[in-house]
Amino acid sequence: MTPTRLEITRPDDWHLHLRDGDALASVVAHTAQRFARAIVMPNLKPPVTTVAQAEDYRRRILASLPAGSRFQPLMTLYLTENTPVEEIIRAKASDSVFAVKYYPAGATTNSDSGVRELSRVYAVLEAMEKHELPLLLHGEVTDSDIDIFDREGVFIERHLLPLRERFPVLRMVLEHITTRNAVEFVSSAPAHVAATITAHHLLLNRNALFEGGIRPHNYCAPILKRETHRAALLQAATSGDPHFFLGTDSAPHPRAAKETACGCAGLYTAPAAIEFYAEAFEQAGRLDRLEAFASFHGPEFYRLPRNEARIVLERSPWIMPDEYPLDGATCKPMRAGESVAWSIVETTAV
Ligand code: DOR
Ligand code: ZN
Repeated sequence: MTPTRLEITRPDDWHLHLRDGDALASVVAHTAQRFARAIVMPNLKPPVTTVAQAEDYRRRILASLPAGSRFQPLMTLYLTENTPVEEIIRAKASDSVFAVKYYPAGATTNSDSGVRELSRVYAVLEAMEKHELPLLLHGEVTDSDIDIFDREGVFIERHLLPLRERFPVLRMVLEHITTRNAVEFVSSAPAHVAATITAHHLLLNRNALFEGGIRPHNYCAPILKRETHRAALLQAATSGDPHFFLGTDSAPHPRAAKETACGCAGLYTAPAAIEFYAEAFEQAGRLDRLEAFASFHGPEFYRLPRNEARIVLERSPWIMPDEYPLDGATCKPMRAGESVAWSIVETTAV
C-alpha cells in the first residue's frame, strides 16, 4: 500500500532562481519553508560574475528571509569569456561560492553574457578542475538549425563528450536534464559527473505545452520533451543512483512576461516543490527513494554534511493559489488553481 505519511531529512534544492530586489523578497520564503540550502543561480541583470558580487547577493537573500529562517543560500558565479583564473581561486577560497555556471550565450533568460566558444574558457576550466570547483552546465546548443527538442542531445555529443576527455576530473553537474540521452551519459559517467532533475520535467511531457491551446506557463528551457524522455528521467530519479539529485530550476516571471507574444522560459514550482517531487515518486511507486534523491545525493556530490532537521509530508490535497505576488505584479505557479496531492505538515529545525 502507498504510504500516506512520509518523514524525511530536510531536503536541499541544488538549482534555484531567486531573482533580486522586490522579486527576491516575494519568492524566497517558499523555498526557505521547504529546503535547508539551495544552489542559487547567478543569471541576474547584470550577471553575478565575481565573488564580491556573489557575497553581496548572498547578503540580500539573507536579509529577505522570514524571521527565524535558517535557510542557507549557496552561491554560484556566472562564467563569461572574460572570467579571470584569479576569480576561480577567490571563489575556492571563499566560504560562500560553491560552483560556476556555464550558460551558452542565448540559451535562456539573461544568458547574453554567456559563453560563445568553449575553447575561450579552457584556462578557467583547468583552474576549476585543479581546485575542484564544480561546473554547472546548461546543456543545450543554441544553433538555430538544430531542432529545439534535440538541443540537449547535440550538446552532449558536440561539447560534453569532448569536455570530459579534455578535463577528465573536472566536477560537473548537467543541470535540469530532460532526455534519455542525458540520463545515459550521466549514469555511465564517474561519480564526479552528476545531474539535477526538476519536478516539472518529472511530471510533465511536451503535450503540456499545447493542452487545448498554447500554454505559456509550461514553457521552460530546456523545453519539455516527449513521454519516453519523461519516463527515462523518472526512472533515473527514482533508481537510487547517486548521480541524480533534486534541483527545481524554479524560475518565477511576472505573468505579463509569460502571457505575451514572446514569453519567458521558466516554471515557478517553489510553492510546492518537494510536494511535486513526492507526487512523481509516488507515481513511480518509489516514495521510499525520495529522501536519498532530495536530501542525500546532493550533499554527497557537493561534499557537504547532510541536514539534521526533518520534514513530514502527508498525503493531504490542497489547492494551489492562482497566483502569488512578484515584485509589484503577480506570478502564476505550476498547478495554479489545481490540486497538489501532498502537504508539509511538520518541520523540525535543528
Ligand atoms: O526555464 C528556465 N528559466 N530555464 C533557465 O535556464 C533559466 C530560467 C530563468 O532564469 O528564468
Ligand atoms: Zn535554471
